[in-house]
Amino acid sequence: MTEELLRLDGVSMQYGTGETRVTALSGIDLTVSRGELVAVMGASGSGKSTLLTVAGGLTTPTSGEVIVEGNWLSQLSPRQLATLRRRSLGFVFQDFNLIPSLTVLENVTLPLELDGFPGKRAKRPGLDALASVELLDKADRYPVDLSGGQQQRVAIARAVVGGRSLILADEPTGALDSTTGEVVLRMLRSRVDAGAGGILVTHDARHAAWADRIVFIRDGRLVDEAQTPPVTTLFEGADR
Ligand SMILES: Nc1ncnc2c1ncn2[C@@H]1O[C@H](COP(=O)(O)OP(=O)(O)OP(=O)(O)O)[C@@H](O)[C@H]1O
Ligand SMILES: [Mg+2]
Repeated sequence: MTEELLRLDGVSMQYGTGETRVTALSGIDLTVSRGELVAVMGASGSGKSTLLTVAGGLTTPTSGEVIVEGNWLSQLSPRQLATLRRRSLGFVFQDFNLIPSLTVLENVTLPLELDGFPGKRAKRPGLDALASVELLDKADRYPVDLSGGQQQRVAIARAVVGGRSLILADEPTGALDSTTGEVVLRMLRSRVDAGAGGILVTHDARHAAWADRIVFIRDGRLVDEAQTPPVTTLFEGADR
């Protein structure tokens, strides 16, 4: 499969102005195709989260172009951009970000309801997404009833619900023990294999090994790239 879900073309990002100016990204070129999971590794402050927020249209880069499923983000109105984000993109964060007062199923269908789906029509894709992370039996429970790993699988279901295809995961295993983290990554991998695409930010080379390739970022620049396997090359270029 070669359909391109995401392209970053010469993307640079600076925060602030004058003396407080920080260059977070410099001339980033990166593509993610359908069926592909790309891991991003690098030291704290190297620009990994900025890369995801720019790729997800949450921040406009200072220069360069972000293209999501063929849409040039710079050409979209704020409203079109919001719609594209809701329909194409799912974010997964370290701290799960589930809403405690909503059931598991309601958390998963929330993006569809925000997109104007009536609750009834959102239910089927919500249950499908939950089944894909093997949590159908938890649909009517609340986040507090679930383990951390299960909550993160709910977040993955929410990221892919209704055929949203680009998953942007910022250290999704950061709050989990290693074994639970592996289960979450296996779910992420299987969603990607089923036709999504994704970026996985991680500090853990064993977790990065779930990706098809690993890119290393240092001071806002992509400095190296490794195909996986072989796992022995994973540590080269990583700052930790
Ligand atoms: N909103 C912001 N305003 C100003 N500077 C910022 C902002 N967000 C990030 N930065 C700076 O941009 C650089 C990259 O930050 P970023 O959060 O992308 O790094 P990171 O690789 O995700 O780090 P970590 O591994 O600690 O999460 C850092 O120097 C950071 O201080
Ligand atoms: Mg970060």
